[in-house]
Amino acid sequence: MVSAAVWDIGYLFSAALFIFGIKQLSSPKTAPRGNRLGALGMLLAVLVTLSRMYSEGIIGWELIVGGLVLGSVIGAFMATRVEMTGMPELVALFNGFGGGASALVALSEVLDRLQESDIPDPGIELYVIWVAIGLSGLVGWMTLTGSLVAMMKLKGGFVIPFSGKWVRFPTWGPSWLNSVKVILLLGSLGLILLSIDDPSNSDYIWGIVALSSLLGVLFVMPIGGADMPVVVSLLNSLSGIAAAFTGFVIGNNVLIIAGSMVGAAGLILTFIMCKAMNRTLPDVLFKAFGGTADKAQLSRTKVGSDPVEVAMICDGISKCVVIPGYGMAVSQAQHSVKEFADLMEARGAEVSYGIHPVAGRMPGHMNVLMAEANVPYEKLIEMDDINNEMAEMDVALVIGANDTVNPVARSGEGPLGGMPIINADAARIVVIIKRSLSVGYAGVDNDLFYEDSTMMLFGDGKKMMNELNAAIKEL
Ligand code: TAP
Repeated sequence: MVSAAVWDIGYLFSAALFIFGIKQLSSPKTAPRGNRLGALGMLLAVLVTLSRMYSEGIIGWELIVGGLVLGSVIGAFMATRVEMTGMPELVALFNGFGGGASALVALSEVLDRLQESDIPDPGIELYVIWVAIGLSGLVGWMTLTGSLVAMMKLKGGFVIPFSGKWVRFPTWGPSWLNSVKVILLLGSLGLILLSIDDPSNSDYIWGIVALSSLLGVLFVMPIGGADMPVVVSLLNSLSGIAAAFTGFVIGNNVLIIAGSMVGAAGLILTFIMCKAMNRTLPDVLFKAFGGTADKAQLSRTKVGSDPVEVAMICDGISKCVVIPGYGMAVSQAQHSVKEFADLMEARGAEVSYGIHPVAGRMPGHMNVLMAEANVPYEKLIEMDDINNEMAEMDVALVIGANDTVNPVARSGEGPLGGMPIINADAARIVVIIKRSLSVGYAGVDNDLFYEDSTMMLFGDGKKMMNELNAAIKEL
């Protein structure tokens, strides 16, 4: 039998890799290495855990190899098949799997102990283990069901098996639902206390599973519109917290460390996103703010411009800002955008990029795409900083962005109300590339399209950028 110290040293290395990995994520230049270090830490943690279980005779190698192969094949299949635009759904799903896995481990531990009558005597040990089992279940099941609902909402709905019918996922949240959520939360906590009073009764544990699963669904169902990124990031944090609780249940240090790191990082990101959307977390969770909006009925019209006309406007300008959004990701126009910037710089213009914190469909979406097109990181300017310079811009080229430049947000009303935006309308000329006048993610019509200083280039982002670049080369 291998000494327990060997496993602990393995876990220590893996925890160190996580910490160094996260540290390196703080700069775009070192981020890829940080990612690899984190993945290596996780591989090491998995290998140490499996070796320990094999050496202690808990599982045979068939299960280990089977699990590794199956998990790797499914993970690789999902990760390679997913489109960049489908990343938020995949992240939501993975969060749910994380929470579900933690909850299942805690559940199997408690059922094992009940079967073997291995229940600690009343006292501190019983409290620690049963509270950790209860909280892991509460947070884990809630994360699983909440994440599944979030994934379906991001996808726009779900398909009923066999019938193939597509159903839009409802966004429903009357104000009395908040009381139901509080009752479910208090009920779950009450069941945890009861389970400590009578630890041999598994009914309480199953009660926690049922209440927390329902709680997850009810928490996410009312949330919609622009608030979904905050929810996904909160669920990410919860999946880490569930893992940390499970670490206490099974006495696994690396799970406690990694879970706490995910929990803390997710929570920090959640607050950053709340700030970017000018929301408080209670507003997002209890006010169903973004969820009640129906898609706006569009009644106004606007005549489109053509790339040659826009190229002539760009001729001789000295300052230009590119504001990318979700449509740039869909059309994969980032390389054409970089070419536009190169052409403009060759003509003596200064080009920068205005990056809204929730542009696209996942945190850092635009940063990743611009980095892929080799845009120097210093040129990606955050919203607050670019807004200070916006009045000096001769041209603001908005490509596939909509909500993040919608002046309606300033009114404080509706699904976008109060969300800070990039003040594209402060530029002398605004050029907007998108396929139509249709609304963005939050479903709100955009006054910017109809301004006199706005030129609409209707068409696919990449196609229009290429045509614009060709026209600039002809100047
Ligand atoms: P959106 O407001 O979603 O608008 C994107 C626009 O892209 C659409 O109006 C669409 O107009 C256009 N588009 C789609 N396909 C295109 C294509 N092939 N070529 C050119 N244009 C295309 O984008 P945004 O300004 O980036 O705002 C992001 C929104 O998503 C915010 O409301 C945010 O809260 C939400 N959200 C963000 C995240 C994160 S974490 N970033 C996660 C989930 C949700 P047409 O159909 O007319 O082309």
